[in-house]
Amino acid sequence: MNELDSRDWILKSINAALKGKKLYPPGHPAAIAPVKKAYDTLTESLKNKNNLMIGLVNEALLFEEDPIENGERLYQDIIHYMSEKNVDVIIFEKGFTEKELSGIVDILAGETKYHGQELQSELHSKGIVHITLKTVPIGKKNILEIYNGAVDVVKNVMAEVRMGKIPKGGPVNNIINEITESVLADQNAVLGLTMIKNYDNYLFNHSVNVSVTAISLGRAMNLEKDELHALGVGALLHDIGKTGVSEQIIRKPSGLSSEEWEKIKEHPLLGSNIIKRMEGMDETVGRLILEHHIKYDYSGYPDTNARLHPLSQIITICDAYDALTTLRVYQKPYNPADAIKIMASMSGRHFNPDTLKSFINMMGIFPIGSMVRLSTNEIGVVIKIHSENSDSPVVKVLYDKEGKYTGSPFEVDLAERKDVSIASAVNPAMTNIDIGAFFEKECAE
Ligand SMILES: [Fe+2]
Ligand SMILES: [Fe+2]
Repeated sequence: MNELDSRDWILKSINAALKGKKLYPPGHPAAIAPVKKAYDTLTESLKNKNNLMIGLVNEALLFEEDPIENGERLYQDIIHYMSEKNVDVIIFEKGFTEKELSGIVDILAGETKYHGQELQSELHSKGIVHITLKTVPIGKKNILEIYNGAVDVVKNVMAEVRMGKIPKGGPVNNIINEITESVLADQNAVLGLTMIKNYDNYLFNHSVNVSVTAISLGRAMNLEKDELHALGVGALLHDIGKTGVSEQIIRKPSGLSSEEWEKIKEHPLLGSNIIKRMEGMDETVGRLILEHHIKYDYSGYPDTNARLHPLSQIITICDAYDALTTLRVYQKPYNPADAIKIMASMSGRHFNPDTLKSFINMMGIFPIGSMVRLSTNEIGVVIKIHSENSDSPVVKVLYDKEGKYTGSPFEVDLAERKDVSIASAVNPAMTNIDIGAFFEKECAE
């Protein structure tokens, strides 16, 4: 067989094997035959080289380095399953076995979705060592898409509740998986996006921001996977009960009548009741929503004597932080660094001291999005927190020593530059920078 023929045979039989996996039950001859054929042709080709690669670049199929003409038409299944599983390269090494190949087919064409490192663990547990699946890391652009996707999910769920429908749990669970993955891939970029505050659609961005921050904190606190998921969902939907309170009351700047205030206080219970009727929701989620306004000292609402769920305080803390750093009808936004100070002063009263400590450890005393003046008199925005050294962040300098806007912003890593430090927080209102838009742009580039 010449090289071109064997290339076509390899792709054709892998394509057929993936298709067969979907069409036939395991062990069916029509599912086994193409795997055998692919194994034989690949092994033959590997007689005179050590490895062989199938790649996917911008939806175009590559064999070794060569683009395959009409690949999108001839080998649809390969392209479909590689992109579905976020795989951009498959490498076959000399000595791989038929069993390994069949395992790869099962993984690629199977129902299971893998997140983060799960795909690599699956390969490992199946004993697949001679075939590599390389996945595309989540880029900043995808992170922005996921953030915006999450805003849409909240918007849809709330619209459905308002129309009297019971929303489906699927989209919520999926977006929480994606947010969790983004946090694992680049926590700093995701936390930067929580600086996007939408005055008109406050509730949607607020819900996503609380969820992103809660997942980051849950991860820093080493929660189990299931707990982290329930926490993310609970945080995303914590204010879903506000759909039962009129917009007029929610947006009222001040002076709520006691009747109106009673109405607002119903939203945690309303919310947890909505969750109970949604399919696919973990029991914990409703509980977290019910408890998100109960403070550590049991002030707040609703009144209860029951012990708080240990994860409730994570949402309470992240909720308070996002609320403080957002412009509201009744409040100017606080600089993140000031919000941290205010919250620290409420430790042991509003907030569980241990949970708050983990939160401040993670955010640093100058969290992402803080506008700061450096000891050099330059002004910039905190864009990255080192998890092991959260008080020496990376600052993007936007204004020079004279206070002039610099056309070419540059980064200063305070963990490396011992000669520079943060002198003080700066009120972002003193500058022309829209911090949310700034992080959006950082991600989009
Ligand atoms: Fe709330
Ligand atoms: Fe809230």
